[in-house]
Amino acid sequence: MTPAPQTALALDDISLAHVDFWTLPTREREGAFAKLRAERPVSWNEEFEYPGVPKGPGFWSVTRYQDVWTVSRSPEIFISGRGANIADLPIEMLEFFGSMINMDAPRHTKLRLLVNKGFTPRMVARIETMVRERARKIVDGVAPRGECDFVNEIAAALPLEIICEMMGIPPSDYRRIFELTNTILGVGDPEYASSLEELMTSSMELFQYAQTLGQARLERPGDDLTSALMQAEVDGQRLSPQEFGSFFILLVVAGNETTRNAISHGMKALTDFPAERRKWQGDFERYKTTAVEEIVRWASPVMHFRRTAAIDTEIGGQVIKAGEKVVMWYNSANRDAAKFDDPYRFDVGREPNEHVGFGAGGPHFCLGANLARREIAVMFEELFRRLPDIEISGPPDMLLSAFIHGIKRMPCRFTPVG
Ligand code: HEM
Repeated sequence: MTPAPQTALALDDISLAHVDFWTLPTREREGAFAKLRAERPVSWNEEFEYPGVPKGPGFWSVTRYQDVWTVSRSPEIFISGRGANIADLPIEMLEFFGSMINMDAPRHTKLRLLVNKGFTPRMVARIETMVRERARKIVDGVAPRGECDFVNEIAAALPLEIICEMMGIPPSDYRRIFELTNTILGVGDPEYASSLEELMTSSMELFQYAQTLGQARLERPGDDLTSALMQAEVDGQRLSPQEFGSFFILLVVAGNETTRNAISHGMKALTDFPAERRKWQGDFERYKTTAVEEIVRWASPVMHFRRTAAIDTEIGGQVIKAGEKVVMWYNSANRDAAKFDDPYRFDVGREPNEHVGFGAGGPHFCLGANLARREIAVMFEELFRRLPDIEISGPPDMLLSAFIHGIKRMPCRFTPVG
């Protein structure tokens, strides 16, 4: 059994809403979450302080697997319409930024149905081929060099190119889209965006980009998801340009920033646990499915989402009042020994593995889970094939965030080929 990480912090000093907590090394943070699961599984937290925004009223932190599962699957009690992130924003801004992730039934159901119509079998088949071609090109591009930045040149390149190509964005705009999504999800890390104003400016730019693209495809449809989404109808209704703009922001941000971190944490784990790597590399197909799920559990690229209690209720023995915010910590649930055998062991053959990396079920379960799984699997297949001795060669530079478990850059080396 791999020993559970420890923390030197006293229970009352674990402050999930303080920036200092998120600068601690991962093991130390994991130790704190282990202490919370054991001793105070549903705890009250003071709010984060954002420049220029009044401090919110605080939130409940849910850390055990079973409780996260229950919150996620009770959408009538724990609603999303007041926001899926911790900070409180006016309703209009919630929809603008978060689209369906900040909505409840029936609007959420309708929008999700419309969007599902865009993911036609033909579209999915096209994407599958595209992922393979792109992954090959990316790996071939770095192969002769013997070293590179794993995050930006390998892990980030694939999801960026796929989501952009899916949406019909021309390659000359990929870089700008990448910068804008970095700013949106990197808010809080001084390297990307330090204020809400910068966040708004980037979101507006993406929104306007989407409006122009959507209008162009409405007039002249092409073979891309934007065209499919602009044409799709549910009950005779189409996506309005406004709805499309917001959904576009959600899709490019969600499609870019998550998968890249799964791939990066995956490569780091395969370097840190060489026996697991040998196992997978020795029989790629046999472990493909389980290894990808384990990478997502291990990485937990999205660390939390929030709900709001619609009525007075209770979770894990804790009374929650109507209107109070409830945060599901997926990273903590994914290390819960009550659910996972030996949870701190990275095990490419782990089965069963009902992790909550893509959410814990319910109406908002990740729409891109299958695409992400495919991107991760194909990327490692191409890496093992072309650069079989690739390894991480220096410490990761971590994103300062309580939301995205991100790596900004991380060196890797391999025997040059080609
Ligand atoms: C490893 C990669 C990914 C991870 C870890 C991840 C994680 C998540 C999580 C935790 C949620 C919230 C689930 C909930 O509240 O129940 C979510 C929702 C969502 N994800 Fe992902 N995601 C990933 C990749 C993607 C990709 C590639 C796309 C798009 C192509 C995508 C699109 C979405 C969308 C649109 C939603 C909102 C769904 C809704 O509100 O109904 N995700 N994702």
